[in-house]
Amino acid sequence: MAENVQSHPATPVAEAQESYKRFGPGQRFEHIVLLVTFSGLALTGLPQSFAEHEWAKVMIDVMGGIESIRIIHRILATILMAEAIYHGGLLTYKLFVLGRRATMIPGLRDIRDVLQWIAFNLGLRREHPHLPRYNFGEKVEYLAVVWGTVIMVITGFMMWNPIATTNFLPGSAVPAARVAHSAEALLAVLSIVTWHMWNVHIRRFNRSMFTGRLPHDAMEEEHAEELDQILAGQIDEDPSPQTIAKRNMYFFPYAFIVGTLLVLGLLFFVTFEQTAITTVDPAVVVQTDQTLEVSADEGNAETGAAVWASLNCSECHGDNAQGGEGRLNVALANTALSFEDFVAAVRRGPADMKAYSVLDVSDLDLAHLYAWLQSQ
Ligand code: HEC
Repeated sequence: MAENVQSHPATPVAEAQESYKRFGPGQRFEHIVLLVTFSGLALTGLPQSFAEHEWAKVMIDVMGGIESIRIIHRILATILMAEAIYHGGLLTYKLFVLGRRATMIPGLRDIRDVLQWIAFNLGLRREHPHLPRYNFGEKVEYLAVVWGTVIMVITGFMMWNPIATTNFLPGSAVPAARVAHSAEALLAVLSIVTWHMWNVHIRRFNRSMFTGRLPHDAMEEEHAEELDQILAGQIDEDPSPQTIAKRNMYFFPYAFIVGTLLVLGLLFFVTFEQTAITTVDPAVVVQTDQTLEVSADEGNAETGAAVWASLNCSECHGDNAQGGEGRLNVALANTALSFEDFVAAVRRGPADMKAYSVLDVSDLDLAHLYAWLQSQ
């Protein structure tokens, strides 16, 4: 217990308070990785999803242009995914080797805590609920991070690898993934700047994620149940070294196999396709004139098929661009148009067709599309 309790000389209140160990160096390191990757992903991601706004263009320019922020975004995403794999391994170790309790899983007691807490705040109850090591608010936040990361990885994969995606999902899945990716990002950022800010910075400045320790009064309010346990000397003991050694014999081979598979999966994820859809065309951000900088040779028919599947052109031009039905019988396959005229038609939007801007489909994607149409 001595190691768990320490007096806190730096506390600004009149008498020095006891403080209690809350996070080890490993957890604090993970938090810093999360802090840096999350902020970086938001800074490089949000301007891409709001690229038509002036503030987003300024941010993109400041960060070195669309191409560079896209690369930064992917590097940060890769670090975050590596962190998720590490976290999963550590969690498995703590649960199955050290035999710790899964203190982050919500249960009925959290519903009781919330109700008691509301009653307390309404003045209907004298006593603040006795909250455990991780209280209901922290559990919700943790699970939201897990859930959010899963959504972002899946939808990010779909945008990063559109050809692979359209092999087993309809083409509309790719733009849908983009919408979901942006919406979840906005939700995550807004909840961090409201919920997380309020709970750990404004309501009480909680430094435990950096110092590792929480002072007595904060423990009483936020983790009274754990405080009682610490004071009563009921601290989770690690199993005997023999038990740990025995469990390690199973854990390490398992961790090695699963870890290797996941890391290989991650490498596959980041290197597999060079065809990520373009969220914003460089032209929107840097160029204002309308000259076409892409040539038809840059097109790739296979990518073009994925681009075709991700747009709605087939609604009028037919599934394989052989022409739709009825009065919209305009075939595009093997078009006689030159690449320049093709691009011009798409940008202009003849007759019933809408004009597609570079925000809808980039010049480069049109080159891919053109190559695919030529190969039909
Ligand atoms: C709402 C229906 C509709 C959609 C969706 C649509 N088009 Fe069209 N498109 C047309 C119609 C109608 C024409 C023929 C206009 C005319 O009579 O000249 C046309 C003409 C064209 C032409 C000129 C063809 C030529 O030979 O002159 C191109 C190129 C073209 N579309 C490409 C596309 C692409 C690429 C997409 C998807 C990004 C697309 N269209 C989506 C209706 C549509």
